[in-house]
Amino acid sequence: MRTQVAIIGAGPAGLLLSQLLHLQGIESIVLESRSRDAIEGTIKAGILEQGTIDLMNAIGAGERMMKEGFVHEGIRLRFDGREERIDFPELTGGRKVMIYAQHEVIKDLVQVRLDTGADIRFEVSEVSVHELGGTRPQVRFRDRDGVLRRIDCDFIAGCDGTQGVSRPSIPAGELSIYERLYPFGWFGILCKAPPSSDELIYAHHERGFVLVSTRSPEVQRMYFQCDPTDKVENWSDDRIWAEFNARLGSRDGWKLQEGPIFHKVIVGMRSQVVEPMRYGRLFLAGDAAHVVPPTGAKGLNLAAADVRVLARALTHYYATGRTDLLDGYSDTALKRIWKAQRFSWWMTSMLHTFPGADAFQRRVQIAELDYVTGSRAAATALAENYVGLPFDGL
Ligand code: PHB
Repeated sequence: MRTQVAIIGAGPAGLLLSQLLHLQGIESIVLESRSRDAIEGTIKAGILEQGTIDLMNAIGAGERMMKEGFVHEGIRLRFDGREERIDFPELTGGRKVMIYAQHEVIKDLVQVRLDTGADIRFEVSEVSVHELGGTRPQVRFRDRDGVLRRIDCDFIAGCDGTQGVSRPSIPAGELSIYERLYPFGWFGILCKAPPSSDELIYAHHERGFVLVSTRSPEVQRMYFQCDPTDKVENWSDDRIWAEFNARLGSRDGWKLQEGPIFHKVIVGMRSQVVEPMRYGRLFLAGDAAHVVPPTGAKGLNLAAADVRVLARALTHYYATGRTDLLDGYSDTALKRIWKAQRFSWWMTSMLHTFPGADAFQRRVQIAELDYVTGSRAAATALAENYVGLPFDGL
């Protein structure tokens, strides 16, 4: 088989890239190790920045999102017995975010790609990449019927996340890895209940952080900070609600809306970046190159930003034969990535309770929350990062 760009991974990065290239007349084949049902059913986070909303609309994948997504104009920060609001449009010249779950984004992208004649191969195995240093790289894989196949291409996009084959295919010593592990995880639940709040609540409490999020008027998404080695089996529904209530408190007649819990998961928290995001003809995008803790809601948005830069560079190459934008891909993408890393690390550090933290650290955290919600300059810094920094010159 022959294509222009072989894309490994049908997550947000791979699917968005494939559609962006298609709109520029550039061919791709997308390889995915999981089934279509599996990728469309995996529950992840769900906040889209304004720029990601605009991108989904621009590529013709935004119709259902605009109907079913929920626009949010702010968040609540709850700490020290108070709740304060950060107003996004007012602080950022009208920018907002949308709640629309990542697996819904995936469904829409798969549909729009298949409608536009895409070649997406699900359930492939034994994917490997070859000849990365030359001008004719190859991807080999076994298809779902067990047949070994080879794709000859001009470029490979590694969009296969943290567990994929792309990143480990780059020789040791070519990449630098920058990492922070956090001494806590998030215990996430989905429950059938009405929303407890019209906006997300990020709560700091000495027992640990809580996030009150939502999926729909009937389904709520909530998280509490936990020991990363804890097990979901240790947490009965009663114990979970007791923990949420202890951390959120009941204020001014506000009450947490409880309901049957139908999904429980523990997620680890880390920050990681690999540099550079390229080796020869292999370009990394999304989680294959970087991981953020979920506190800043940046994961999917960063993946979208990477492939915007990569699609532009590939388009420029096919139009002019020049490699300058491809050569600049990693540096350009990393500028935004490091700012999102800083924001995610900062939100995480401000809001969580660190094991062994002393009274000094706890008071500094409260002072920071007081400052962020009391100073227009500080609130603006949070808001403009949360809704997504502008794309300079893109
Ligand atoms: C979610 O709804 O899953 C969610 C929302 C905001 C975050 C992280 C996760 O910061």
